[in-house]
Amino acid sequence: MNHKPVRGKVGRNDPCPCGSGLKYKWCCMVRRPADADRIREYYLNQYSIRLKEPADIEGIRQAGRLVVDTLDHLAGQIRPGVTTDQLDTLAHEFTIHHGGIPAPLNYKGFPRSICTSVNEVICHGIPGNRFLREGDIINIDVTTILHGYYADANKTYFVGRPSPDARKIVDVTRECLRRGMAAVRSGGTTGDIGWAIQQHAESHGCSVVREFVGHGVGFAFHEEPQIPHFGRRGHGIPLVPGMVFTIEPMINLGERHLKILSDQWTAITADGSLSAQFEQTILVTEDGCESLTPFDLS
Ligand code: MF3
Ligand code: CO
Ligand code: CO
Repeated sequence: MNHKPVRGKVGRNDPCPCGSGLKYKWCCMVRRPADADRIREYYLNQYSIRLKEPADIEGIRQAGRLVVDTLDHLAGQIRPGVTTDQLDTLAHEFTIHHGGIPAPLNYKGFPRSICTSVNEVICHGIPGNRFLREGDIINIDVTTILHGYYADANKTYFVGRPSPDARKIVDVTRECLRRGMAAVRSGGTTGDIGWAIQQHAESHGCSVVREFVGHGVGFAFHEEPQIPHFGRRGHGIPLVPGMVFTIEPMINLGERHLKILSDQWTAITADGSLSAQFEQTILVTEDGCESLTPFDLS
């Protein structure tokens, strides 16, 4: 919790600016910030959010290291002529070899170990016999369970040389994740993250997908809270240290609307425009955030 002086007037029934989630009158107005146990209990009861302890965080960090290693392993294999099924097999074997379990496999009936989303596919593309072609973009989304802990990350890659449109959507989306992460701080809110992402995407004429959002992660694949990639500053849930969630903006070059294919998974842009995504698993800390699936976003 921070003890910074508060600018402006805080009402006694407003959320405490320390980020505890308690009313101001029950928190820093009358006493030191609420202690860790009270905040844990409050977040569980109020939001169904399970805050993470240092041992949990270390477990998720180790799972996250394997996720990033898997992405790096696949990156070297992306070229024209490779099928998305070949990438899936490589990811599956790499994960198992390192003691992990691919979380997507059989998750709600999903039939493969990773998601591969090419060009106009927004997310949840199912690996298959599609061959990658020069100029494609492909998102690879890896979620791994290691010693019971989940970490989740994805990146969008170029296949060969990118078109100007491909370069634009990938650059804008990567910067959206960077800005979303930069908005994370104890005492901020989930809405701050969404606002930062939406304003960057829309200022470049791109659009934010609304049907899929970031999510709490660590003990399970998808936990509370939801992290929309659009929103208003100061709205949503107050962020506190120990929260772990993904930020995973899906940004379209055209309009935001989507269609789901008959496989019931693959989400594509309704207008056929390119869509990109980047995702990391983020820990809220006292002074900002730490990525538990760190990779370069510059
Ligand atoms: N990894 C995706 C996410 O970021 C979820 C994929 S669900 C699956 O939340 F079943 F398609 F794997
Ligand atoms: Co995710
Ligand atoms: Co993911």
